[in-house]
Amino acid sequence: MKNIGVLVSGGGTNLQSVIDNIESGKINGQIKVVISNKESAYGLERARKHGIKAIYLNGEKEIIEELKNNDVDLVVLAGFLKILSHDFTRAFENKIINIHPSLIPSFCGKGYYGIKVHEAAIEYGVKVSGATVHFVDENTDTGAIIMQKTVNVLPDDSAQDLQKRVLCVEHEILSQVIAKFCEDKIKLVGRRVYIED
Ligand code: GRF
Repeated sequence: MKNIGVLVSGGGTNLQSVIDNIESGKINGQIKVVISNKESAYGLERARKHGIKAIYLNGEKEIIEELKNNDVDLVVLAGFLKILSHDFTRAFENKIINIHPSLIPSFCGKGYYGIKVHEAAIEYGVKVSGATVHFVDENTDTGAIIMQKTVNVLPDDSAQDLQKRVLCVEHEILSQVIAKFCEDKIKLVGRRVYIED
């Protein structure tokens, strides 16, 4: 069974869906620790309600240490709004995944987070958007893409409408990727990711 560490900065609905999928047996892994760089993040509360260790840590060194101390095999960034240093990405090479609320390489990179992503998509006039789970490398949102799922952008959509629709597919694909990772079924060849059945 794989040990998972989850990093959150906010409400933690993605974290919640991972917890639920572990509890229902769909993911063969265990969350050893949830860490937030925001003391008031509701994600910490969600973890504690399920008996999961949840702590506020702001320094990167401390975060790395905590993840190492828990023998974490996979680091999940689930709405973690802090850009990681090279030291961090090197410490967990090909073991960090992130969920992003657009179809990378559109509407991603520095400054594209939260509602801003969806505002940009609506403003641009795209007809489809979606969510991406990718490996985290030393740059922002540039790591190899593991899974993507689209949603339609409807003519009258507000950024908030789109955000809600995308969030639903985020929950789906994040857990699917974590389940596959826990079964060692994700292979990275160059920038291409292959997922075994
Ligand atoms: C999600 O849209 C995620 O893609 C983004 O931040 C949001 C976090 O939502 N990086 P939640 O905290 O999981 O509810």
